Amino acid sequence: MGELWNGISTIISDGSQIKSERFTYTIEKLINNGASITYKAKRNDGKKIFLKHFKSPNSSNPEWREFIDFQKSVLRKLLTLPPSIIEINYEFFEFGGKYKYHFQAKAFEEGMDLEKFIEENELSFIDKLKLCAIIAGILKTIHQHGIIHSDLKPAQIFMVKDKSVPLGYRPKIIDFDHCIIPSLHLYNPAGTDIWKSPEHIKEEKIDYKSDIFTLGLIIIFILSNGGTPFDVDNYEIDVIKGKFLSLNEIFGNKLPSYFADTIDKMLNPDKNKRPELEEVQNVILKFQNEIEKGTSSTPRYIRLESNGRSVIISENKIITRDFIKNMFGNYKKIYTKQFELIKDNTGKWFIKGFNVPSEGKDKQGNIYKFYPTLYNGKDVTNSYIPIEDGGKISVGKEEFVIRMVF
Ligand SMILES: Nc1ncnc2c1ncn2[C@@H]1O[C@H](COP(=O)(O)OP(=O)(O)O)[C@@H](O)[C@H]1O
Ligand SMILES: [Mg+2]
Repeated sequence: MGELWNGISTIISDGSQIKSERFTYTIEKLINNGASITYKAKRNDGKKIFLKHFKSPNSSNPEWREFIDFQKSVLRKLLTLPPSIIEINYEFFEFGGKYKYHFQAKAFEEGMDLEKFIEENELSFIDKLKLCAIIAGILKTIHQHGIIHSDLKPAQIFMVKDKSVPLGYRPKIIDFDHCIIPSLHLYNPAGTDIWKSPEHIKEEKIDYKSDIFTLGLIIIFILSNGGTPFDVDNYEIDVIKGKFLSLNEIFGNKLPSYFADTIDKMLNPDKNKRPELEEVQNVILKFQNEIEKGTSSTPRYIRLESNGRSVIISENKIITRDFIKNMFGNYKKIYTKQFELIKDNTGKWFIKGFNVPSEGKDKQGNIYKFYPTLYNGKDVTNSYIPIEDGGKISVGKEEFVIRMVF
């Protein structure tokens, strides 16, 4: 049995315990010591817990009662949201020695926040759009439940590991410590440096439109692999003036204007000119559909990936044994002419497999086995099959992944 925390040391040491009315928590590891202190902990029934410990206020402060009431009301409201879109909150409670502190116990989730996720993963453009659409949808649901987050940023979007979704991760919005719930008169906004809206900067009343501004920045962050349209050295002034790089300036005019203009409008200094989340979701989905159907006017190339390498293919290409040898190295099972990648005049890409003998002999008499070309598991020999982002071409046990590039 660990010792109960005495409420005096700032950080609760590993192995020490704290108690709520219902559970005992054993601290396993300090995660971060910032404005609040976060730990990985184990609950007495074995559940893994993400435990957040507030350094202030404590029960000696005059604002304690009001703070606790705020937290409890927020928790009640959060529990009415679908657990798939936000953190899973188990309980909020107070514990300490002479003075008590506020704690939040949440399900410990495997994954990483969006900041790290974007840094570590190279997503295809279509996957980026999908991720943006899901996050916009989550924020829309949160707003429909009458909650304004007020402190959005990539660190407040947690990518939970989930093998059942194509991306392998699904986003959740977390950390409602600074949320606003107008119907309950709860108002405790915050904002973080380069994610602040003009209303934050001007210290005006924060409402739904402020979240929409910051979501615009998060969408651009995702689409541009961690970029921002603002000059970060002059952030506050430029935000208020509405001086930023348009999405099509960032993307060299490759994006359809209905899409780029809507995202740009999210950053409008006049909050009443920002689009509703419904419209944001719709333009993302429209663009996504156009890309998937191949009707987007956007130029499309293929990136073929295999054996840890990748090659850009921009026009019709016959994939030969020599090409695979030079580009990827894993050519032993590839026939002289294995398959062809074909772009039609609308920009849509197809694959066609060539007839391949089942074996061949070289001059030294060595026997080689050959295999037909499969696309997503189906033999495409002599047929003309459309290909998509993430599609898999296989020849024997060699695999080539298709990435659509914009
Ligand atoms: N339920 C969770 N499970 C695992 N890690 C989490 C969880 N919630 C948050 N985190 C990680 O901890 C960081 C801080 O959490 P957050 O609730 O935002 O606290 P803070 O008040 O310190 O901002 C997040 O950015 C995320 O990386
Ligand atoms: Mg946070």
